[in-house]
This record gives sequence, C-alpha cells and structure tokens, in this order.
Amino acid sequence: MSILIKNASEILTMNDGLGLLKDRSIFIDHGVIAEIGAGLTAPSRAQVIDARKCVVMPGMVDCHTHLVFAGSREDEFALRIGGVKYEEIARQGGGIANTVAKTRTASEDELYKLARERIDNLVRSGTTTVEIKSGYGLSRAEELKILRVIRRLKDNAPIEVVSTFLVHAVPVHMKRRDYVDMVLEEILPAVAHQKIAEFCDVFCDKGAFPNGDTEKILDRARSFNMKLKIHADELSNTGGADLAARMGCVSADHLIFTTKSGVRKMRDAGVMPVLLPGTTLYLRSKRRPKIQDYYDERTAFAIASDYNPGTCLIYSLPRIMALACLMYGVEIESALLAVTINAARALDRGHRLGFIRKGMPADLVVLNVNNYKKIVYQFGEDLVQWVIKKGKIIYGKNR
Ligand code: NIG
Ligand code: FE
Repeated sequence: MSILIKNASEILTMNDGLGLLKDRSIFIDHGVIAEIGAGLTAPSRAQVIDARKCVVMPGMVDCHTHLVFAGSREDEFALRIGGVKYEEIARQGGGIANTVAKTRTASEDELYKLARERIDNLVRSGTTTVEIKSGYGLSRAEELKILRVIRRLKDNAPIEVVSTFLVHAVPVHMKRRDYVDMVLEEILPAVAHQKIAEFCDVFCDKGAFPNGDTEKILDRARSFNMKLKIHADELSNTGGADLAARMGCVSADHLIFTTKSGVRKMRDAGVMPVLLPGTTLYLRSKRRPKIQDYYDERTAFAIASDYNPGTCLIYSLPRIMALACLMYGVEIESALLAVTINAARALDRGHRLGFIRKGMPADLVVLNVNNYKKIVYQFGEDLVQWVIKKGKIIYGKNR
C-alpha cells in the first residue's frame, strides 16, 4: 500500500530542531517514507491525503504511563479539590493502594480490555508509541499478571508498546524492607527470566522508596540487563536526579523539586529528563520545575502524560504539551521536540522514532491546523486528522 500526504502547510521533521519544511508532500511506500518534496505525484494505486492547511509531525511518543489498572478514584480527586493532600490520602490507605486492591481482583482479560480502550484514545490523540508501567500488583504473581497484559497489548495494539516493571509502593500490611527483599529476591529475577519488561523503574521519594533502596533495586535490575528509569523528586527533593545520573538511567521523570545542579548532572550523564505537567495540575501543586534551568544548561527534556487513575487522566499529548507551555513556561518548539524525538530518547529509541526522514518507517500524524503554534494554542479542540504507524493508517477522518 502507498500513501501520498499532499501539500502539507508545514512538516516538522525534528531533524536539527523542528526541521520545518513548508508546502511539501510525503510519499509513503511499503511502510517507509520514500520521498519528501514539493509537487510529488502519486501512482494511481496510492491513497491520497489532502494535507493543505495541515501540519504533519512525527507520531507522538508517550514515554511515561501507568495505563493498566482497574477502577477509578474520583472520590479522592474530589477530596483533593477540597484541599486534602495526595500524601494524606495515601497515608489513610487510599491512593496507589486503592488501585492495587481493584487491580488485583480484576482478571487478565478485564485489564486487557480496559487498557486496549485507553490505547484507542491515545491513537485518536496522535500517540503512536507508548510506555506502560506495571506497579499496581505489588506481588510476584500480580506484577507478572500486569506485565503479561502489557505484552498482550504489545502483540495486538496498533501502536508500539514499551514495557516497564515499576517498584511503586509498599503493599498494605508489609514492611518496606520485606517488600524490597521480595523485589530483589523474587519479583525482579522472575521478570528478568521471562524477559517481560525492558525497563525497571522505582518510585523514589519521601513516603515511597528512599535513595538507598532505589539504588539496590536498580543495581539488581542492571545486573539482569534491564534499562533503568526513576520517578524522581516528585513530592520532595531527595536528590533523585543525581541518583539517576550516577546510576546511568535512561530517563528521570517528574523532577518538580530538582535543582540546577541536578539538571546539569543529568545532562552530563546522558539521562533524559521527563516532565509530567498533567500530574502537577491534578495534584494542584503550586510547585513547578524551573524550566529556565534547562534552557540555561542547554539540557533537552521530554514531556509525557503519566496517565494513571490517581494523578492524571489526560491521555492527549497535544493537551499535555499545552499544560507544559502554560503552567511550566515551556516554549512551544521545545514542547513539540519533547513529545517526539526527546520522548523517543527517553525510551532508548531516539535512533528510529520521533523524527521524519526519508528511508525511515512512516510514523506520522496529520493535524488540522496550518501552523504548528496552533497545536498548542487551540488545545481544547481535537486537531488530529490522520495517524499513520509503520505506513498504515490507524486513524483517519476526512475534513
Ligand atoms: O506517577 N508517582 C507515582 N505514581 C504515579 C501515581 C500513581 C497513583 O496515584 O496511582 C505518578 O504520579
Ligand atoms: Fe508516574
């Protein structure tokens, strides 16, 4: 099958910055970008997409989600609107523990069905690659159950799925030390043996896992050849970014309390920082990451949704980009790089995803706006018109 995306107002190739091309077409043949140029004509068998007054950009990469879970937490959401803190709800047995209880009683089929529907929503918003974390199981059997659901999504969903084993919380009625031992001795070896997760992530924070435990767990994961991530400095500054740099993590995520020296250390160690502004919105946190530090230190960053039932129900990356711009002061151009090439780097896929180049698999989104600034400016609208993954149209609507 071949496709001609004809006369796009703008193409954001993400080669060397935005790599903006104006009034060009893209010809896709056998799943690959065969040509990018002006005045291309299509063979009669090709499907033609009229992209006049449209922006074409790489398929977006959501590099941080927790989208396999059962149940919902709107009552806690309402409590937070009333002023109760996330940490307080967790202390009273809600929060992650609430979702763990519901996820444990759900069958693998039920979890798959719920997650598959969420992936359809992602696709409609222009996401063509998604990372999914486990972490609502908190035992060997239950974490493996979630990871099997993620594997099934990987095999069946129309987009690329990346799997992460997350050490998320201490199970109710268990001591932290005992759960860390269980992770080290039972869960991680089983996950590694089954080759069911590419990354290992730890929620390193006050009220979650301290730096010492995080380091032990990540060390062990590395010995099993897993790649590393950290939930760092989300609720307090524990030096999570420094730890990510020292451990050689592929990414460090959240980073609300990270200092300029932490930013510098991540840059020098090649750790991709990942910002999650939807979570800041849901937590009603006054605290913001200092974006100027990233610009001063010439440090690239990614942006992701953190989609989960507690702290972010937004799956649309165009909306998440808008939150990053409006709440954090991220420039529009950086936001677009952050959900494409930089997010691909946060998943160790920067060599093949998040940019548009001749000869590469066609992974593209066509948006119904005539310039890229409007993607953020008009974020209340559904602007995504066509979504193409590996040269196949996986979502499309005519204007
Ligand atoms: O990324 N930080 C830890 N985990 C999630 C929240 C999970 C939940 O509340 O269910 C997060 O914000
Ligand atoms: Fe998260």
